[in-house]
Amino acid sequence: MVRRLVLLLPAGLALLAGLNGALLLLGVPAPVTSGRLGDGHGILLALGFVGTVVALERAVALRRPLALAAPALTGLGALALIVPAPPALGRALLVAGMLALGGICVPLWRRRREDAVAIQALGAVAGAGGAILWAAGVGMGQVLPWLTGFVVLTIAGERLELSRVSIDEAAGTRAGLLALAVFAVLPATLLWPAVGGALLGVALLALVGWLVVHDVARRTIRATGLVRFIAACLLAGYAWLALAGGIWLVAPTPLADGAYDAVIHAVFLGFTMSMIMAHAPVILPAVLGVRMPYHPVMVVAPSLLHASLLVRILGDARGSEVLREVGGLGNIAAVLVFVLVTVGIVVRTGSGRAGRTDRAGPDPSADQPAPALEGTP
Ligand code: HEM
Repeated sequence: MVRRLVLLLPAGLALLAGLNGALLLLGVPAPVTSGRLGDGHGILLALGFVGTVVALERAVALRRPLALAAPALTGLGALALIVPAPPALGRALLVAGMLALGGICVPLWRRRREDAVAIQALGAVAGAGGAILWAAGVGMGQVLPWLTGFVVLTIAGERLELSRVSIDEAAGTRAGLLALAVFAVLPATLLWPAVGGALLGVALLALVGWLVVHDVARRTIRATGLVRFIAACLLAGYAWLALAGGIWLVAPTPLADGAYDAVIHAVFLGFTMSMIMAHAPVILPAVLGVRMPYHPVMVVAPSLLHASLLVRILGDARGSEVLREVGGLGNIAAVLVFVLVTVGIVVRTGSGRAGRTDRAGPDPSADQPAPALEGTP
């Protein structure tokens, strides 16, 4: 548990540094004024934070100590981007970490040859591709589809895994094909950005359509407590991903200022952060062995996130700097509230390891035990 907590710390620092960078990009006063944090904002959050959390979760699922090298490398890469180390060091470590995450997927696939595992592996390869392109100096506009592929395919694979009892084999295969379509258009976004961007939009819309139809969240939204909380976060996340797909489909590439901000944050805040908020009560017990029971205060962070993102994207659409700024500050507040509430609940519940029920019990949003829980000793 201590080893995993140590590996999670750089992800936490990447999150805080990325949020500080967000303040700099919004042009408002920030605690740290180093330009490194503004320049590194996107990568710190997408690979330093999300990449490390995903790599740690996958490494725990594999149950082999060597697999922990993946989150260690992405975490060190994020730290190297924050401190005044040579930029090449941070880039190299992040690339190595994302490649190691791809490497973890091989034994996971050998263990269970299922669509869900293959989709997550495609996500890891997309993430490694994004890291390599970014390290090679390719512009963020062209790296963005790869980072999107990373988070979307990783999460789609996870949702397929959690919903598999309620879906038939043909539906699972369709999910695999849709995920493959998202992955296959990524090179096209580099070679022919206008056509590739529109194709990515179509592929994302098709995949999110599959998720909305087949995810158990549509049924569990009628439940209560944690189950309903998770379902609401999932469905709201799917709505933002659909918006991102729609923007990619209709907006000219390279994306204009407002569309650029909207597409990025619909994917990474509306979809990804919402998914992280949904899964935290399930993943944290599995990965860290701590307990995180449901408390109604958990609703505050996602509510603020979605409301402020709406304001921000309205600002993007209308070209209003004020709305963008107000929405952006609300986004930062939402993420900070999430961190504080999570830490508060875990500390208040007790620092002891989760009991057998928490670690081996079913994900309340799932029809079967969560995959991450399998890996918890
Ligand atoms: C929490 C609140 C956040 C705020 C206020 C914020 C703010 C911003 C701003 C103002 C920009 C510049 C947009 C432009 O050039 O039009 C930006 C870019 C970006 N953001 Fe965020 N962001 C936030 C969260 C996130 C998260 C959680 C992620 C990823 C997980 C993310 C990923 C990115 C990326 C990839 C870029 C593009 C960077 C570049 O062009 O170099 N952001 N963000």
